[in-house]
This record gives sequence, structure tokens and C-alpha cells, in this order.
Amino acid sequence: MTRIFSGIKPTGHLTLGNYLGAVRQWAEVDQHRAESLFSVVDLHALTVDHDPGRVRRLSRQAATLLLASGIDPERATVFVQSHVDEHARLSYLLECVATDGEMRRMIQYKEKSALERARGGSVRLSLLTYPVLMAADILAYGADEVPVGDDQVQHVELTRDLAVRFNQRYGHTFVVPRATYPKVAARVMDLQDPTSKMGKSGDVGAGIVYLLDEPDVVRKKILRAVTDSGSEVEYDREGKPGVANLLEIFAACEGGSPEDLSGVYESYGALKKDTAEAVVEVLRPVQEKHKELVADPAYVEEVLRRGAERARGMSRPMVDTAYRAIGLLPPVNEEL
Ligand code: AMP
Ligand code: TRP
Repeated sequence: MTRIFSGIKPTGHLTLGNYLGAVRQWAEVDQHRAESLFSVVDLHALTVDHDPGRVRRLSRQAATLLLASGIDPERATVFVQSHVDEHARLSYLLECVATDGEMRRMIQYKEKSALERARGGSVRLSLLTYPVLMAADILAYGADEVPVGDDQVQHVELTRDLAVRFNQRYGHTFVVPRATYPKVAARVMDLQDPTSKMGKSGDVGAGIVYLLDEPDVVRKKILRAVTDSGSEVEYDREGKPGVANLLEIFAACEGGSPEDLSGVYESYGALKKDTAEAVVEVLRPVQEKHKELVADPAYVEEVLRRGAERARGMSRPMVDTAYRAIGLLPPVNEEL
């Protein structure tokens, strides 16, 4: 059976981009067709300036939102990355396979480190090595597929390269995974700046729809979205990025394609109004379920406990095999 792994970082509140680009696909499609693991990858949240209490709160919230989005813990394994030691164990081995140059070429590293330096801050070493930890997340489970948004393409490519290189040098150990993307909304853009990604950690929230935003807040943000010059509703990502983003969000919520929908609207105002309502309706059941789950924290904790136990059982043999293959001596009481 196909195995799927994906993860989400608790660096901020989950956004509509996370949902349409990744989580909805995990809940509606992936968990039904494959053996799936979905992880709150909290170790990745420590690569940038962080507040410990906030990371804890956001980790719990992200796990709750995965369940509220319809991920069924009877079908999929839902767990917190730091509860399973194998990720960090394997990451070190992969650091011995990856190169310094390869890491420095990662687009996300270049962007985030430049931003950090421009702010006068320092760049954590873990920001550079983070894609290796991500590769370890995936390879530890022998995942075949990694459903992600568009921004993770390069990291999954790196994961493939590391798997192939390790296998060539030390004997066949890892499955070489491939990335999968949603048909529309693989990259939801910021409503106030439609040339950049709608990201969790945007400084101002005006261009970002959060999964837990109240309906009126969602409406306000979408109605105030930046649109483009002219007045014709056309799907043109280059020429009309604001309108194209709204069309993609609308299509992802309602079904259909952004091209077809563009023919239906005469004005930006009408498109915004319908997009806002479509988003409110998509978020409604998730928010309702979230409310129920928040009232029952013991349930969420039990899901995470069982998830970590299952994940440990799945990853341990693979990581042990990699330790042996790369030349590490087994502990004395273990057989060769
Ligand atoms: P992150 O928030 O960076 O941990 O991302 C979790 C998942 O959501 C990854 O698969 C991302 O590719 C996806 N994702 C994040 N932001 C967006 C966005 N604006 N549009 C589409 N997918 C996104
Ligand atoms: N790097 C991913 C992101 O920023 C999160 C992530 C960490 C991930 N480990 C993963 C995604 C493994 C897929 C598989 O969105």
C-alpha cells in the first residue's frame, strides 16, 4: 500500500493557504487512499526566533485543527514530531550525506536568512540544516508520496537526492519519495500582496485568512483584498495576480477551474463577495469541530499519544537499518 507522510510547522496559526494547499487534501483524499502519517513538526518551529510557550500552544492547536479538518485518527497516524526520536536520529545521518553547498542553495534558506540578517538578527544553524530534518521526517517512514504546497518542491527534491545518494553509497535502504500537489491552490497568495505567499508568520494579518478567523473577519479581509488595475475579471497570474488569487481560492472552495469562473463575473466586487461566502462556508465545519475538540483536550492528547507510539514502531526499524548500513556498530546486546 502507498504510504504518505506530510507535516505542518507550529510557527503560527494555520491559514487558508495551509488548508487549501495541504490539509484539506490530506483529509479528503490522501487518508482514504493510502497509509498516512500527518505530523505537527515542532522541531522545525525552533529554526527561527521562538517563544517556548507559544510553540507549545500552537502545536496543540495545529494537532486539534488537523482533527477538526477531518483527519481521522483511526485511519491516519497523527502525531507530534518531537515525540518520536527517530527524526532527530536519522537527521544526523543525512547531514553526513548532504553537502554544505546543497543546503545553501535552498530558496527558503536564502530568503529567510536574508530577511533575518536584514533585521540585524542572527541565523540559527538549524535554519540551514532544516531541509535535512525534513528529509529525515519523510525517509524514516519509507513514504512514497509527500502531499505539499508548491513552496516545498525543492525540499522534496532534496529528499529524493539524499535517498538516492544514501542508497548508492550504503546499499538500498530508503524509498525515494515524490511530492504531490493539489490541482488548484497549491500556492495561495497574500490578499494584501498577491505576489507573495500567504504565510503563517506574516507580520500583519490583513492579507492572511486564518482557519479560526470569525466569518465577519474573513469577509472583511477578502472584500479588502488588493485587486489589479482594469476592471475585467480575467485569470492571468502574471498580469492580474490579485484577481487570479481570488479566482483560485474561489475555485478551490467551490470546485471548478479559475479559468471557467473568470467568465462568470462582471466585476471585482461580485467576485470578492462570492469568494468571501465560499471561504466562510468551507471554514464553518472545521471551526465547529474545532470548538468541540477544544472542549475535550484529553481526547486530543490520547490521539497524539497513540499516534507517537505507532509512528515510533514504524520508523524505528528503518532508522536502525540506516545506522547499520552507514557503518555504525550495533550495541553489544543487539545482533548484527
Ligand atoms: P507550513 O505552514 O510551512 O508548515 O506548511 C504546511 C503545508 O501547507 C505545506 O505543505 C505547505 O506547502 C502548505 N502551504 C503553506 N502555505 C501555503 C500557501 N500559501 N498556499 C498553499 N499551500 C501552502
Ligand atoms: N517544511 C515543511 C513546511 O515548511 C514542513 C515539513 C516538515 C514537512 N517536514 C515535512 C512537509 C515532511 C512534508 C513532509 O511546510
